Amino acid sequence: MTDVILQVEDLETGYGEVQILWGVSLKAYKSKLTTIIGSNGSGKTTLLRAITGVLPIWKGRVIFEGKDITKLPAYKRAEMGLIMVPEGRMVFPEMTVYENLEMGAYTKRARKKMKETMEFVFSLFPRLKERINQKAGTMSGGEQQMLAIGRGLMALPELLILDEPSLGLAPKLVLEVFEIIERLRSEGVTMLLVEQNVHLSLAITDYAYVMAEGRIVMEGTGKELAESDEVRKAYLGI
Ligand SMILES: Nc1ncnc2c1ncn2[C@@H]1O[C@H](COP(=O)(O)OP(=O)(O)OP(=O)(O)O)[C@@H](O)[C@H]1O
Ligand SMILES: [Mg+2]
Repeated sequence: MTDVILQVEDLETGYGEVQILWGVSLKAYKSKLTTIIGSNGSGKTTLLRAITGVLPIWKGRVIFEGKDITKLPAYKRAEMGLIMVPEGRMVFPEMTVYENLEMGAYTKRARKKMKETMEFVFSLFPRLKERINQKAGTMSGGEQQMLAIGRGLMALPELLILDEPSLGLAPKLVLEVFEIIERLRSEGVTMLLVEQNVHLSLAITDYAYVMAEGRIVMEGTGKELAESDEVRKAYLGI
């Protein structure tokens, strides 16, 4: 594969006294889609929080673009282009689509290019352009998810982290979200995706990791994992 953009080495962390992650290691590559799958409570969101700096790391290292960021505060990681779209589509409901996107361009780097980036976001999501002055809280779940991803893109991510973007969406909208992810991938956006929709995510990902009980238990290309008996039994119900 090409250049490593993110490297997690032997990471351990948790909440209070409770350890959740046990020696987690993974890599994400520039311009590739890397996916983490795993059942509820396996530690996926916790891992993303540790990577983005929201949760302190107890042990191990996180290397981003060749730099050790293990102890760097979250805002500095964002300034470097490590951007997360959190679980649950947290758009600002009282703000318009435009204002939400504007909020996304919060880093110094992103501010300068706000207009151009917004054009790119509108080219991906024409529906957002049509609703530019609508309050985000009045949009459908699928539209809010597009807005959440659009807002992530406004920050000019070097690595865009998506935590379960298809969660809670109707099947048709789930497909739409996956089409968007594929489109971003073809545009060269580097992504780290967490998904419960194992079937669809393994079909489009370059590489994937399987998490269980705070550990990485398997890894491989999307194709390798989709064909693995263990994954098929545990996650695809085959
Ligand atoms: N703020 C918190 N305080 C204490 N424990 C937490 C906190 N957040 C998560 N946990 C616990 O950490 C474990 C891993 O949770 P996490 O949210 O990382 O799982 P997940 O893989 O993202 O699950 P899901 O697929 O349901 O989103 C769970 O046992 C959970 O209860
Ligand atoms: Mg989660």
